[in-house]
Amino acid sequence: MATKHKTNKSAAAVPRHIAVVMDGNGRWATRRLLPRGAGHKFGVDALKRLVRGCIAQHVSVLTVFAFSSENWSRPADEVRGLLELFVQVLQRETAELAAQGVRLRFVGCRDAFDARLLELIESAEVDSAAQSRLQLNVALNYGGRWDIVHAAQALAASGEPFTEQALASHMCLADLPAPDLLIRTGGEHRLSNFLLWQLAYTELYFTDLLWPEFDEKALAAAIAEYARRERRFGGVPAPSAADGLRVA
Ligand code: IPE
Ligand code: IPE
Ligand code: MG
Repeated sequence: MATKHKTNKSAAAVPRHIAVVMDGNGRWATRRLLPRGAGHKFGVDALKRLVRGCIAQHVSVLTVFAFSSENWSRPADEVRGLLELFVQVLQRETAELAAQGVRLRFVGCRDAFDARLLELIESAEVDSAAQSRLQLNVALNYGGRWDIVHAAQALAASGEPFTEQALASHMCLADLPAPDLLIRTGGEHRLSNFLLWQLAYTELYFTDLLWPEFDEKALAAAIAEYARRERRFGGVPAPSAADGLRVA
C-alpha cells in the first residue's frame, strides 16, 4: 500500500487515498433528453477512466460512492436499473480490473442485496485479493451513519472499553489511511452521508462537472488543487526555510 512520494516541499502532493462522490449522472442524461439510467451507464465509463487515472498517478486507495443508503428512495425503476447495472459491471469488468492490479472491496450493508449480486461481490473480492496496485473500495448501500452505528454495535459486542480508537477500529476502511482528498462532482456542496467519520480531516474538492464528464484532466486538476492545500490537522503551519532565516 505504500506509495513513494517526493520528499520536497510537495511531500504529500499525491493523495494516498481519494474518495469520490460520483454525482450528476441523472442531470447529464436529462440534458441530453436521455433516461437517467443512460447517465448511470456513462458513469461507469467515467469510473473506469478514474481507476486508470489513479493508477497512473500512483494513488494507492480509491473509494467511490456508488449507491447510498438513501438512494432506495428513488423511483423503483431507477433503483432496479442501478442494481442490474452493478451486476452487469461486476460480470464484465472484474477480470479486467484484476488484470490492472486492482483489489476490490465493497463497503455498506449487504442485507438488501439479492443472491446474484452478493455472489458477484464476494467472488470479486476473493478473486482480486492478491492485487496491490490500487485498492478500490465501492460503497454500495453505504451510509456514514450506518457505518458509525454498525461499528458501535460491533464494539459493544466485543466488550472492549469504549474509546475513540476502539470505535475507529470497527469502522469501514479502518485498515486503510483516511481519505486525503474527497472529490464531489455535480455541483452540490455536501457529503450526503458518505464516510462521515473517515472524512474528519479530508481536503474537500467540488467541481460542477457532471460525473459522466469527469476525465483524467479533471482528476489531474483535483490533485493539483490538493497539492496547493496546507493540511494542519489542528496544528500550526509548518515553519518554512525563510522563517528559519528570519529567526537567525
Ligand atoms: C449519482 O448521480 C449516481 C447515484 C446516486 C447512483 P445522480 O443519479 O444522483 O445524478 P443527479 O444528481 O440526479 O444528476
Ligand atoms: C450521493 O448522491 C450518493 C451517490 C453518489 C451514490 P445523491 O445524488 O444521492 O445525493 P443528494 O441526494 O443530492 O444529497
Ligand atoms: Mg445526485
